[in-house]
Amino acid sequence: MATATPNLLQPPNFTCVKSLSESSALTSIPSTYTFTTDPNQLLAFEPQHSIPIIDFSLLTSGDADQRSRAIQDLDQACLEWGFFMLINHGVPESLMTGMIEACRGFFDLTEEEKREFQGTHLLSPIRYGTSFNARVDQILLWRDFLKVFAHPQFHSPSKPAGFSEVCLEYTQSIRKVVGELLKGISKSLGLEEWYIDKTMNMDSGLQILIANLYPPCPQPEYAMGLPPHSDHGFLTLLIQNGIGGLQVQHKGHWFDMNPIPNSILVITGDNLEVLSNGKYKSMLHRVVVNNKTTRISLAVFNGPSLDTVVEPAPELSQPSTYVGMTYKEYLELQQGNKLDGKTCLDRVRIKTM
Ligand code: OGA
Ligand code: NI
Repeated sequence: MATATPNLLQPPNFTCVKSLSESSALTSIPSTYTFTTDPNQLLAFEPQHSIPIIDFSLLTSGDADQRSRAIQDLDQACLEWGFFMLINHGVPESLMTGMIEACRGFFDLTEEEKREFQGTHLLSPIRYGTSFNARVDQILLWRDFLKVFAHPQFHSPSKPAGFSEVCLEYTQSIRKVVGELLKGISKSLGLEEWYIDKTMNMDSGLQILIANLYPPCPQPEYAMGLPPHSDHGFLTLLIQNGIGGLQVQHKGHWFDMNPIPNSILVITGDNLEVLSNGKYKSMLHRVVVNNKTTRISLAVFNGPSLDTVVEPAPELSQPSTYVGMTYKEYLELQQGNKLDGKTCLDRVRIKTM
């Protein structure tokens, strides 16, 4: 078989945090999970703030004025925050909760069953694991995950029953929403509506679903769910099981993200920053954990096809401040290292004096 070294991704016999959290003796975290010794480091700045809201029904409206106002709002949200809550998106609530419950069902499989889906290399289309990159993470994250490639080829673990069906339906409806958002973003960048779709080969664009599980943690103030990072791809669409934990960075401060029920959170990614030549900066975010309830979040990453070179659109103001790189190379760079702020983007940024 022409695959890389088996178990390249996870140390043999790794412990997932779900099992750790369920062991009744656990009253403190093992030292390998101590992310900080300062209990104030993970506090948010303040609870009150106004996160941008984008009304999807206006963005797709037949009324030209409404649509152009929605595109202006989208422009502002991407410029100011790199983040917004999407409402009236048309994805049925039952599908969103069905998908979250299907993921819970996956994590509830036995460890032995889940390990069948560990994957063997960074771009394995199905990967179950813990932390981010457990082989290189010196400090482990309080997080288990399942990653599946949903497009251009649809993959899914064969268990639990019904998972694959709901996953296909969910990722397809998210793709439709993303298609419309990218039309709006093309326009807000001053490009033709079809620009990103066509030049970035979105027909064969990569879509990755990531299910994150953050079990209760006995010392949440010292452990980390996901450290500060930005996402690869153009847009990440995220939903959660009603439990908070996501924090977003805005003007140097961390804000707790408590989404409007039934909304979808949209996060702009590194490859949009590159394509827009730095106009829309990718957003830094992190996940803190709690000691009471399991949090499940589902992030769908939407990027170009793997062999597409992402570079600043030549139609935008010059000079280019990023070099081109294929999405595949970018992904391997991001997934092959530890998750560390926006350091991956530094690799394609042209240094100015
Ligand atoms: C991610 C991510 C946030 C969350 O998977 O990249 O940022 O709330 N997830 O779990
Ligand atoms: Ni993220």
